[in-house]
Amino acid sequence: MTQTLVAPSILSADFGHLHAEIASISSADWIHVDVMDGKFVPNITIGPLIVEAARRASAALDRPMPLDVHLMIVEPDRYLADFRKAGADILTVHAEACTHLDRSVQYIKQLGAQAGVSLNPHTPENVLDYVLDELDVVLCMTVNPGFGGQSLIERVFPKIERIRETIERRGLKTRIEVDGGVKPDNARRFREAGAHVMVAGSAVFGAKDRDAAISAIRSA
Ligand code: DX5
Ligand code: ZN
Repeated sequence: MTQTLVAPSILSADFGHLHAEIASISSADWIHVDVMDGKFVPNITIGPLIVEAARRASAALDRPMPLDVHLMIVEPDRYLADFRKAGADILTVHAEACTHLDRSVQYIKQLGAQAGVSLNPHTPENVLDYVLDELDVVLCMTVNPGFGGQSLIERVFPKIERIRETIERRGLKTRIEVDGGVKPDNARRFREAGAHVMVAGSAVFGAKDRDAAISAIRSA
């Protein structure tokens, strides 16, 4: 199995000290950026300007990390180019927010980014049947998106397993990313279900020793 990647979500960081906060997670693999529009989800967070600031903070590290931009917004096609220009390496849209999901995925690839599709906890995995082969990442929400610090929804585990089976059966390199309620003490269950990338907001930024939290999640 490939190595587990850890993607701390800066939603739980102190935005007044973004450079220092990003430097404090330099042992991680990806930087997860949660973009919310107040429409697809009840919360409003950040736009391309902050993504650009995060990119600069990452570029200043000895080992810059890819920016994993999770778009919880309606009509994401309108903003994909802006987020790509701001520095997004991975662009993830929600299946529930895309009327023409295949078109959105192709557009992300045309922009030169890795393409991800996210599924809300209630969304069945078969919506990906005819697009999965094109994806770099499937992002499985394990909480209802909108806020950090929620408890994971157990019912999503069988879905992660089913997506893993399909990816293996088709011989794809698509990574499964899980997002919401991931902690050192449950990361092993996510890994065993098939997750390759663990997003963790409160479990990393709320930890006294962030490196220790990152490494505990990675090696769980
Ligand atoms: C939720 C976001 C998550 C969130 C995770 O809508 O997509 O990325 O920041 O936060 P934790 O790890 O605290 O559940
Ligand atoms: Zn997220």
